[in-house]
Amino acid sequence: MTKRLSRRKSILQKIKIASISKLKPGKSVGVTNLGKKYAVFNIDGQLYGIDGACKHMKASLAGSKTDGPIVTCAMHGWKFDVTNGACLNESWANLKSFPVVIEDDIVYLIVGEE
Ligand code: FES
Repeated sequence: MTKRLSRRKSILQKIKIASISKLKPGKSVGVTNLGKKYAVFNIDGQLYGIDGACKHMKASLAGSKTDGPIVTCAMHGWKFDVTNGACLNESWANLKSFPVVIEDDIVYLIVGEE
């Protein structure tokens, strides 16, 4: 009898976000790649990348108000921690977070796909 093993392939994708000059402290930038929104926030000089669509009703989080690492969705006020994507309102609504890299003054997100 032959045993079949299921192997998951993980593909990393580097998504261009913006020039670093557009991400001053307190700012955020959002992009859409292959129909999916992403957002990068500069919190006190540190960059954080998360899903860019609120899990409530998919409003864009880029450009929303931040208070420290907490971003408040402009649509209905749900709050997310941009350092890890955690939703402070509903545990099922956590966002994915992604590594951020800077190359030649361009900010990229490293997104894993399965
Ligand atoms: S769409 Fe974000 S809180 Fe409703």
